[in-house]
Amino acid sequence: MTDQYAVVGNPVEHSRSPAIHAMFAEQTGQTLSYERLLAPLDGFEATLKAFAAAGAKGCNITVPFKFDAFKLATEHTERAALACAVNTLRFDEGGWVGDNTDGAGLVNDIQRNARRPLEGLQLLLVGAGGAAAGVLGSLIAARPARITVVNRTLDKAQALVDSHAHLGVPLAAATLADAPAAQDIVINATSTSLAGAASPVDARVLKPGSLALDMMYGPKAQGFLDWAAAHGAEPRDGLGMLVEQAAEAFHFWRGLRPDTARVLQALRASL
Ligand code: ATR
Repeated sequence: MTDQYAVVGNPVEHSRSPAIHAMFAEQTGQTLSYERLLAPLDGFEATLKAFAAAGAKGCNITVPFKFDAFKLATEHTERAALACAVNTLRFDEGGWVGDNTDGAGLVNDIQRNARRPLEGLQLLLVGAGGAAAGVLGSLIAARPARITVVNRTLDKAQALVDSHAHLGVPLAAATLADAPAAQDIVINATSTSLAGAASPVDARVLKPGSLALDMMYGPKAQGFLDWAAAHGAEPRDGLGMLVEQAAEAFHFWRGLRPDTARVLQALRASL
């Protein structure tokens, strides 16, 4: 039987993951299937169990189930444990192993595709929800000089910083209004782009040549990207992160690393 994988979410119909994994499989000579699986909001566990019982090997998990997936995993990788969220499950004989590849995907996109080594840089992470929590540990692992987490609700930024404070990189929490000026890298991990808003922070957080990345892609990211470009920063959307997190998941399942640059190029051309 062909090894089966899927992306499970609600909604899930717009997911690009099947196209990405099909390209990875072709490139590496792997035979597998990868589909979209819509789970009812109250039926995530049942959907996963049925998929695993049918012989599937693993899945990706997207909105809004990453915390539920964390709870259902019987074992966690270190980075998933730190994020308290799982976007990749592998159905092993002995149980379900949960990983979180979002942070590594973001870091690989910034360092390899955008060619910005993070070591020693000043980073601003905007937002303190699930998306921000999923990437902070990996950002820290890249050894920047400092990471400031700013959020509309200060308590959430503080809680996120506190849970990562032992990892050896100076961290600070602040409100959006108190965001520090002139950052090397600004990452928008809020959901404000969903409403087409430009930026939740003032342009003084940028300096000429800053990299300003929105985790969204397509029309949703455009407001933020235009804002960044208008203020002299290099805008970057979340498409590279999407491909890189998929590559990490592919490696977790198949033990092989696909050539992401080619896939990112093809995906961008298709959008
Ligand atoms: P996700 O999984 O996408 O991160 P989430 O956990 O609901 O979703 O988090 C959404 C993030 O966007 C939070 O940081 C949220 O700020 P609060 O913690 O204060 O709610 C932020 N956000 C959403 N709408 C916003 C807005 N209009 N202005 C500023 N921040 C906003």
